[in-house]
Amino acid sequence: MSIYDVVPVTVGDYRRRARRRLPRFLFDYLDGAANDEVTAAANESDFGRYHLLQRVLRDVEGVNTASTLAGQAVNMPLALAPVGMAGMYARRGEVQGARAARRAGIPFSLSTLGICTVEEVAATGRAPWFQLYMLRDRDIVEQLLARAAAAGCDTLLFTVDLPMAGMRLRDYRNGMLGGGIPGKLSYLAQLAASPVWAVDVGLRGKPHCIGNLREVVPDPDDLDAYKAFIDTQFDPTVTWEDIAWLRGIWKGKLFIKGVLEVDDARAAVDTGADGVVVSNHGGRQLDGVASSISKLGAISAALGAQTEILLDGGIRSGIDLAKALALGANGVLMGRPWVYAVAAGGEDAVANLLDLFQRELLVAMALLGIRSIDEFSPELIEELVK
Ligand code: GLV
Repeated sequence: MSIYDVVPVTVGDYRRRARRRLPRFLFDYLDGAANDEVTAAANESDFGRYHLLQRVLRDVEGVNTASTLAGQAVNMPLALAPVGMAGMYARRGEVQGARAARRAGIPFSLSTLGICTVEEVAATGRAPWFQLYMLRDRDIVEQLLARAAAAGCDTLLFTVDLPMAGMRLRDYRNGMLGGGIPGKLSYLAQLAASPVWAVDVGLRGKPHCIGNLREVVPDPDDLDAYKAFIDTQFDPTVTWEDIAWLRGIWKGKLFIKGVLEVDDARAAVDTGADGVVVSNHGGRQLDGVASSISKLGAISAALGAQTEILLDGGIRSGIDLAKALALGANGVLMGRPWVYAVAAGGEDAVANLLDLFQRELLVAMALLGIRSIDEFSPELIEELVK
């Protein structure tokens, strides 16, 4: 990087800025993944295994990235993914992300573990997609769904790849989780080394509780109490029968998030889901599973147009988005990049990133010789043979 490079134009540019600004444990929680982070790395690098096929002289005037996702008109087929605690990365981070998404004409997804409540995000003028895990206490699940529906949410991303939390080693190493006295001292040192964040977000961004769970956690102002609550509430007993139950009580669109294998994708459709999200949770759960993009083609071939397919994991540019669409996705979720951007520069930074993605997608479409999203097909892409 040179001193003349002052305008962020890639996810990497925002990531570097976020890293400088955030306390180390927060950067690591976002940037890190499970164990050796092999799957997380593959999520990004495996896009390089696919080559788009350039086509020329096809009259691409009027090329347009508009489409629909979950029945909603979008300016490009990308939604901001649910990310827990985004409100620790920027002041009221979920609200800033939702505003940027609205400006870009795309959906914003709110994590169960967001800092801002679903009502606070909905007050931006558009209700978010809502993300939920199965909690042991099904009454809480029902209450959260009723609350999301009352706030206007019409799409539920139901996460199924978290029967228990993955081993995110950075969180242990830097003292965010456990670590005794050395861990606590390191944690305090990291806070002291981030004065801009401490004032902007640490002080002025309060309250910092997990908004949607405020009513059900014994001590709402203690983030450790949330952690303990969540650990006891993630439900490892969940099966497809519970999804059938869920389908019965959620009247909106239902996407099963965290599917990697064709049989699981089929089972999701069989239980009445409207869509699946092909995802390995950003490599944060089982390190050693394949990248999301490498699993997309088979799932898309198996489900065909029967159901909506979203790809989650590794999207770092509009070119990646084009590759996912060519491999059969109806759209994608993008997680870490928007949080790097919101940490680096708030709503405007997220809006700028989304604008760059859209322009990249537009250029890609023009050079693929297509004018509309529904023209994407596997004929526009080839996989490198090893
Ligand atoms: C929660 O879903 C996480 O990945 O941290």
